[in-house]
Parts: sequence; C-alpha cells; structure tokens
Amino acid sequence: MTTLSGSARLAGVLGFPVAHSRSPRLHGFWLRRHGIDGAYLPLPVAPDRFAAGVRALADLGFRGANVTIPHKLAGFEVCDVVDASARRAGAVNTLVFRDGAIHGANTDGFGFLESICEQAPGWRPEAGPAVLMGAGGAARAIAAVLLDAGCPRVTLVNRTLAHAEALARTLGGAIDVAAAPPLEGAALLVNTTSLGMAGHAALAIDLAPLPAAAVVADIVYVPLETPLLAAARARGLRAVDGLGMLLHQARPGFEAWFGVAPQVDAELRAFVAHDIPPGPGPNGSVRPIQPSGPSGPTAIDRTT
Ligand code: ATR
Repeated sequence: MTTLSGSARLAGVLGFPVAHSRSPRLHGFWLRRHGIDGAYLPLPVAPDRFAAGVRALADLGFRGANVTIPHKLAGFEVCDVVDASARRAGAVNTLVFRDGAIHGANTDGFGFLESICEQAPGWRPEAGPAVLMGAGGAARAIAAVLLDAGCPRVTLVNRTLAHAEALARTLGGAIDVAAAPPLEGAALLVNTTSLGMAGHAALAIDLAPLPAAAVVADIVYVPLETPLLAAARARGLRAVDGLGMLLHQARPGFEAWFGVAPQVDAELRAFVAHDIPPGPGPNGSVRPIQPSGPSGPTAIDRTT
C-alpha cells in the first residue's frame, strides 16, 4: 500500500456494481510502478445517483474517473465538454475534471486499435474490410475508430438486424450490414458480443473463408483465449485477445489524472490477468468461472 500525502491525486471507477472491475488493480499497478502519490478507487453508485456522484467527486478534488456499466451513456450526459471520440461512440468511459468543467472521452476505440497494433504488428486499419459481430456500445466505439482510421469498409453482423442498421445509420460512411459475416477478403474479424465469455455459448463461425493474413480479435477477455481466438490460432491466423483493449484504454485516463504516460507490458498483463482462466475448457466449451466476490460471476467483464 502506498502512503498518501495531503496532496495525493485521486481517481476511480464509477459502476454499479463495480466489484467486477479490474481497473483498480490495473491503475494500482501503475501507481506503484511510478511511485505516485495517488489512489484509484472502486466507486459503486446507483444509476439514479450517478450525476450527483460525479459532481460530488469533482467538488471533492478528484482528478477524474472511469465510467463503466451501466453508466457509459449517462457519462456522456453529465459532461460539460465531450471530445470527438465520445461523440462518435455516443458514450463516455473517461472523465477528467479540469478548470471547473467535466470533460468526457471514450478511450475504448483507442484501446482496441492500440491492442491490435501491439498483438498483430504490421496490421493497418487500411489493410482491408473489417467485419464486426455485434451492434452494441462496444461495436459502436470500435466501428467508429476503424472508419476514422481509414478502414475501407466495416460490415456489422448482429442477432437483431435492426440494431445493426440503426448503428450504421448513426455512424455513416463506409459501413453496412449483413446477415452473415462476409469473411472472404476481410482483413479483420472482431467479436464485440458477449458470446464466448465464460458461462456463455461460443460464437460459432467457420473461419475457413478468411484470408491467411486476416486478424481475428475478441473483446471478451474471460477466458483470455475464447473459442473464437482458439479457432483462429488453429488456422494459423493472428488472434488478438480482449485484455489488451482493457489495458490500453486505461492509458489516457491515467496520464490525465496522474501526470505520467504509463506503459502496457507483460508484467502488467500478468498482474491484471492473475485470476482470468487462460482458455476454454475441455472440448472447446467455455468454462464458467467461479464467483469472485459479492457481485457474483464476472458476466459483464468486457471493458473497464
Ligand atoms: P456493449 O455495450 O458492451 O457492447 P450491448 O450494448 O449490450 O453491450 O451489446 C451487446 C451485443 O451483443 C449486441 O450486439 C447483442 O445483440 P442484440 O443487438 O441482438 O441484442 C449481442 N449479443 C448479446 N448476447 C447475444 C447472443 N446470445 N447471441 C448473439 N448476440 C448477442
């Protein structure tokens, strides 16, 4: 434990529940590594107290906070100023209290891109079309960042077609919707659904039509290697796990609050992943993981 001084810098993560969040462990690692006089706290707050809670943190001198489920949309509303990443994602995961104003950003897309660049070196957004499974909040942040980074086409495939069509209309540009994933010629396949997560069914897709140079990414990180990623590796494709996105999305907030640009490396990865099962269970089934605290199974462990 670090001993705090009277001028310690404070930040935390607002969620409900928040016990599942790995962000305190992640930011705590960086605080210790850099010997920073500061703390990052879990901050459970019910939806009807969220806005008041955020303003109270600002009044109490916090530097800012992360925002996780179910508050990412409310996080957008509570801000005085939002940046382009938040507007494109329609949601906020990082709040910075500065000059008497609440500033909001969404670093999920940034974290996703940084994670692919780290785990699949040489991949470029303009390398070819991307196929995204899912059309929720995570899909929106990832589709936006891919389009804005020069990806020639993003295709959304979702259980509820209308959700994908609505998202495509909202984002605009080189984005379309398909009933089945158009894998031939795709440079990137991303799972943004909860399929493949411990306790859920696997995402069943035949990866055979993907080109050999394609990258397969999953934003699920419990288990670290989902059945989709295992299938990709078995075909010799490059696979990018969801933990990298979690680690990289945290960097901009940490730098804004604590004044140091932190690094993602193997030591951090191992520290944050200490209780995450490495892969699917026997026969490719996804092992349910044991309840780890008062919030029960980590059913909503995806980002932040
Ligand atoms: P997040 O904000 O984390 O992206 P979300 O907004 O709840 O979470 O989105 C979850 C996505 O996973 C949606 O695309 C959802 O599909 P629907 O739009 O049809 O609801 C998808 N999803 C969740 N459970 C699924 C399942 N069992 N099979 C297929 N898709 C599923």
